Amino acid sequence: MLIDRLEPLLRFHPFTRLNALLQDLTPGGSGAPLLFSVGEPQNAPPPILHTELDRHAGSWSRYPPAVGTPDFRAAVGEWLMRRYRLPAGLIDPDRHLLPAAGSREALFMIALSAVPEARGNGVRPAVLMPNPFYHVYAGAAAVAGAEPVFLPATRETGFLPDLDALDRDLLDRTALAYVCSPANPQGAVADLAYLQCWIELGRRHDFVVAFDECYAETYTEAPPPGALEACAALGGDLTNVMVFHSLSKRSGAAGLRSGFVAGDPRLVQRQAQLVNFGGVAPPLPVLAASAALWRDEAHVEAGRARYRENFAVAAEILGDRFGFVRPAGGFFLWLDVGDGEAAARRLWAEAGVRVLPGAYMARPDSTEGGNRGPGDRYIRVALVYDAATTAEGLRRLVAVLDDAPIAAEGGSAHTVAFGDKA
Ligand SMILES: Cc1ncc(COP(=O)(O)O)c(C=O)c1O
Repeated sequence: MLIDRLEPLLRFHPFTRLNALLQDLTPGGSGAPLLFSVGEPQNAPPPILHTELDRHAGSWSRYPPAVGTPDFRAAVGEWLMRRYRLPAGLIDPDRHLLPAAGSREALFMIALSAVPEARGNGVRPAVLMPNPFYHVYAGAAAVAGAEPVFLPATRETGFLPDLDALDRDLLDRTALAYVCSPANPQGAVADLAYLQCWIELGRRHDFVVAFDECYAETYTEAPPPGALEACAALGGDLTNVMVFHSLSKRSGAAGLRSGFVAGDPRLVQRQAQLVNFGGVAPPLPVLAASAALWRDEAHVEAGRARYRENFAVAAEILGDRFGFVRPAGGFFLWLDVGDGEAAARRLWAEAGVRVLPGAYMARPDSTEGGNRGPGDRYIRVALVYDAATTAEGLRRLVAVLDDAPIAAEGGSAHTVAFGDKA
């Protein structure tokens, strides 16, 4: 069965591993436990979300089409044109884009439509992805029957895979490559030239490049460039390119399950066919609320201001500890603590601070030697709270990892079970 292909990966699911790692511990510290483990913004989404859902409540009874509504497609098309300064005509909303029930499902499905049974001469296709990476890429590659190939994205490579290190044989058997910018977990942002290189490689070696841009709106200074912008710079052709966007991070609306895909019309059409047979088309009220969110920038700017404040707090509290650098994009700290798993256990047990060991987002890698991986030394800390809570959590973190006594009494036992689920 196809699902059996996931079996070997189940033990790698990051949050299952985290729950197992911490299950024998009770969260310590005097204050409430703080969950910095999941990339789920904790601020309330903007009121237009509710008003639009209510205004369109009459259409909950209707089946939504896989291609969404003309209004949703228009809102997204206009946003893409504005955000990436695309030339007129590059995006035809009726051919080049499609709603998605969150970007996770779409990122999974792209493997089903991009990976053939075999590449020439019966060779098993490869799916490339950065290492560390968002776990869905590996699950999608496995179910599609491809070999996942993990490309080191370490401090030495600027936290993005080094394209010059890819050999021709590998590129020839590649069916799909996932590129994540801003990168989860490290926050690295690819420049336009880097995105162009991926697109050119994909076209030269005939593979699809899936650009995961779901953190595109969370940045410190300049807006990160996107792959559609790179297509425009290369002459406007969208062949072999798909971009993935989401309201989960941009609008703090992870529960809405709303995103979109855009790019190569052939791939967009296949994605719609997959949804028609076995996927989820976002409901009509969700599409209406989503269109309103894509048209509004004020709440997004407010979100960016919050993350900037959080990073300023982090800079002040962490200083130069744990290799802290303010990332160009995203809302994660990627901290080199020596042993990420040990740190995560201590932080939960001694301070009630829940973080994700970097190893749970990576695979052992021959370049690291033995059974070691590029995430082993790290923890990922999601700065998803307000500045005051961020400060509280980071002070507790520093106190534990600096081996100083934690300020308050500590040790209160909490009986609530905390299971991360994303
Ligand atoms: C890199 C990356 N891509 C995609 C997603 C999926 O987000 P959603 O399905 O909520 O749009 C996530 C969620 O955490 C993510 O971190």
